[in-house]
Amino acid sequence: MKIIYTVLVLVVTQLLVACGDPTKSGRGFTLPEGDAQKGQDAFLALHCNSCHAIKGRADIPHSEEAAITVKLGGTVRIIQNYGQLVTSIINPSHRLAKGYPQAMIQSGEQSLMPNYNSVMTVQQLTDLVAFLQAQYEMDPVIQTRYPRYNYPK
Ligand code: HEC
Repeated sequence: MKIIYTVLVLVVTQLLVACGDPTKSGRGFTLPEGDAQKGQDAFLALHCNSCHAIKGRADIPHSEEAAITVKLGGTVRIIQNYGQLVTSIINPSHRLAKGYPQAMIQSGEQSLMPNYNSVMTVQQLTDLVAFLQAQYEMDPVIQTRYPRYNYPK
């Protein structure tokens, strides 16, 4: 019974992998090096700060009256790679930020984040990603230290 189940799981996984359209894969996608300072300028110029506050960056003003405050940056377990950051910016509804009341960040299935794709340059996008990535800090996982066990002789 167990073997049948295992075989079934393998077949289904294979099918799922085979069905994924390889032309939609992000593999091979590489951004050129961005300029974090220019990214910060773009962040302000495009008014990203009207909805986003950056943790630990009181120098980047976030408008207090904003209906939406989604925090970016800070200490995280997994640093967002640039593929994820680019996706958050150019295709915000693809994956919605976690930990916020639905009504604040989405309408139906759509993110309330505006679409910048016809106003933002690729250079701005590249710089924004460099800027945002620098705002995240890796949460160091504290490893449990196990004392060495000496077998009694
Ligand atoms: C009108 C409000 C608004 C503006 C302006 C806005 N965003 Fe957002 N943004 C959101 C909302 C709401 C979310 C959460 C839903 C989601 O993940 O799409 C979000 C999510 C994000 C995320 C993902 C955060 C996470 O933790 O997953 C990033 C990155 C981001 N925005 C970057 C930007 C950048 C860069 C700009 C400016 C070019 C910008 N946003 C402008 C509303 C906004």
